Amino acid sequence: MKFFLDTVNIDDITSLLETGLIEGITTNPTLIAQSKRPQHEVIRAICALVPGPVSTEVIATDWKEILQEAHELARIAANVVIKVPVTFDGLKACYQLRQENIPVNVTLCFSPLQALLAARAGATYISPFMGRMDDYGQDGSTLLELIRDIYDNDPTIETQILAASVRSPKHVLEAAYAGADIVTLSPAVFRTLYAHPLTDKGLAQFLKDWKNAEAK
Ligand code: G3P
Repeated sequence: MKFFLDTVNIDDITSLLETGLIEGITTNPTLIAQSKRPQHEVIRAICALVPGPVSTEVIATDWKEILQEAHELARIAANVVIKVPVTFDGLKACYQLRQENIPVNVTLCFSPLQALLAARAGATYISPFMGRMDDYGQDGSTLLELIRDIYDNDPTIETQILAASVRSPKHVLEAAYAGADIVTLSPAVFRTLYAHPLTDKGLAQFLKDWKNAEAK
């Protein structure tokens, strides 16, 4: 399973890219709005930093307007991935964009059948939202497992499962168990993944013992 960052924060992207563990970026309209910068400016800056895929979402909901917006966004950089919602118009636009060999991340997925339709529309990535499923008392990891099974039943499907709306290390573990190809997560959640009190305690003890031995 690969790790993407779900953020527009340039400082976080820069610092975590240096680990070599981050292979792409996802964004959404809320994150772009919070940046208080124009979408094209933010995405151009991120694409210049990140060699991997950078997802940015259209705002249009009508398929013709989605296509128009997607073509403008795709011109920003070669590693731009167009995010469209899994609606009738979003799927229709996805199919057309994929005919033009433009990568598409179909997002706001909350059901296995939405994921199947996205795959048949040629989606490059499908983004099932784990956290928002859990927010409604449903099971985000079960959604991933069902999508994985459905995709594995059809060898013609090449769509990658990009686990999104990941709020905790538990979600990351569940995504890995379920067979997600990619997990996208905030810098804050990423930084919890390597932290463990016993690692800190053990390292402190090693250093203490080493220092004591040197003193003798
Ligand atoms: O960006 C898509 C997804 O990761 C959003 O997550 O936490 O806003 O549900 P969240």
